Amino acid sequence: MSTKKRTAILISGRGSNMQSLVAAARAPDYPAEIVLVASNRPDAAGVAWAVEQGLPTVIIDHKGYGSRAAFERALQSALDTHHVELVALAGFMRLMTPEFVAHWQNRMINIHPSLLPSFKGLHTHEQAIAAGVKIAGCTVHYVRPEMDAGPIIAQAAVPVLSSDTAETLAAKILKVEHRVYPAALRLVAAGQVCCEGEKIVISSEVSQTNPLYSPVI
Ligand code: GAR
Repeated sequence: MSTKKRTAILISGRGSNMQSLVAAARAPDYPAEIVLVASNRPDAAGVAWAVEQGLPTVIIDHKGYGSRAAFERALQSALDTHHVELVALAGFMRLMTPEFVAHWQNRMINIHPSLLPSFKGLHTHEQAIAAGVKIAGCTVHYVRPEMDAGPIIAQAAVPVLSSDTAETLAAKILKVEHRVYPAALRLVAAGQVCCEGEKIVISSEVSQTNPLYSPVI
């Protein structure tokens, strides 16, 4: 019997973070296996890729449900069918009900392209450029009912240059997202992340050696 954590990836679009998680999970020593890709959008580019890879893939089109709760019941049923233990949101652009979030408390993670708690919501990169920050980055966190909030598991930083636009900044951040998300899921799936109140403590031997905690720039 595998001891790997059975993990679902939820997407709404391109799915490049999904691809980085799937690639990482192919390593024999990776503690998570991707058992399901679920999308709320039938036309998400990531769906075609997941199907090509032969990954179990399900489309649960939110437009076909009368309420957020009804949509989540269908999603939960798919997660149950595949005996999912961990959920990784990868560009999944739907807010979830407090009940669904509570059910997956400390078992559902998200990546957001800013150094939270700065720049939540949409147009993150535009927000960072407009604020004139000199460092931007991405955050992996446990999901809480509030949008883009929750205990921070990992972050990575990139410099913001005066020549940067929202597009060039997004491209730089996406590169580090693809490194940080697989590393963060590894920590979570290996049971090395502990929530103390709303702060994360990482097992000490990991935090001393993990490259996530060295500057990325
Ligand atoms: C990523 O940049 C991710 O951080 C962001 O959506 C993009 C999805 O790209 N997520 C959020 O903004 C969540 N609030 P991808 O589909 O190529 O992974």
